Amino acid sequence: MKPELETLLNRLLEAERAGHQLLDAMSRETSDPQMQALFANFTDVEISDTAVLEGLIRLHGGTPSQKTGDFADKVLRIDNLHEQINLLSRGQAWVARKIEQALVLAPPPDIDAFLKEMANRHRHNMEWARAEAIKQFDE
Ligand SMILES: [Fe+2]
Repeated sequence: MKPELETLLNRLLEAERAGHQLLDAMSRETSDPQMQALFANFTDVEISDTAVLEGLIRLHGGTPSQKTGDFADKVLRIDNLHEQINLLSRGQAWVARKIEQALVLAPPPDIDAFLKEMANRHRHNMEWARAEAIKQFDE
């Protein structure tokens, strides 16, 4: 696997791990059923993305990173749910952008297919988080 591709996939892996950690923490903090549904859906997806990314990196001869990104800490330091959800939405956009960078490197077909699906899902979740922020905070 190209080193640049391995680096990007590992950044995504670390980010997904951080996303999972963050959503876990945020869902514990809210008692609103709609928010819990939002977080639970995101969490399931982050867990499977992490597993698939690890598998694909290994399958193509790379070494999956064991690290976790710092996104969770960054968001949890903010003491404002509205701002946290906005950041969550921006985090999804970041993932979609990183994936575009990886796709430019012409990854093998199985990685390419997974990344495209993952990018679309993150764009969808970005919109969903944005809509939720508007609905909850009447912005
Ligand atoms: Fe994610």
